[in-house]
Amino acid sequence: MTKALIVAMTKDRVIGKNNDMPWHLPEDLKLFKAKTTGHIIAMGRKTYESIGRPLPNRENFVITRSGKEYDGCRVFGSVQECIKAAEEYDKTLFFIGGGQIYSDAVDMVDEMHISYIKENYDGDTFFPEFDESRWKVTETEEYGDFIYKKFVRLSA
Ligand SMILES: NC(=O)c1ccc[n+]([C@@H]2O[C@H](COP(=O)([O-])OP(=O)(O)OC[C@H]3O[C@@H](n4cnc5c(N)ncnc54)[C@H](OP(=O)(O)O)[C@@H]3O)[C@@H](O)[C@H]2O)c1
Repeated sequence: MTKALIVAMTKDRVIGKNNDMPWHLPEDLKLFKAKTTGHIIAMGRKTYESIGRPLPNRENFVITRSGKEYDGCRVFGSVQECIKAAEEYDKTLFFIGGGQIYSDAVDMVDEMHISYIKENYDGDTFFPEFDESRWKVTETEEYGDFIYKKFVRLSA
């Protein structure tokens, strides 16, 4: 089971504002859909509420301390619990945000799919800083509004 995260951020690491994304980039949404379809997506409760529904053709995991149920989703109390549950599936587990979940997941995933947005945006939620020397960029692809990079963790 591969553990991954997928994120779109500015070069200042902004990922969100007012519980929403500060941009609307259809090309990036298309990339997100292509990468995650058929797999597992795991997200914090705030990101789930901002999307408002389970995303189709994917297993949806919601992370919350509340114990609340969400229709069409499996609910877990931590990033670690998601990883344990994902071992039951022959699929990639993608952590899809938001900031709180990325902070926990960044130390646990094997790969990161990052879209670097070219324009600057203000925000109130950020992707954590990480040590790029511990990662190898294995793919780079330039799109109109962003540059996609795949990072694979170097073995310790
Ligand atoms: N740019 C991108 O790629 C991207 C992707 C996703 C989201 N976003 C943006 O990110 C923002 C939301 O991020 P956020 O940091 O505010 O919220 P979040 O990470 O989506 O959700 C936070 C919630 O997750 C639960 N949680 C977090 N850590 C936990 C832990 N260790 N154990 C159990 N539950 C835990 C808690 O839920 P309870 O309070 O219910 O216990 C917490 O309130 C929005 O602006 C969204 O649009 C951006």
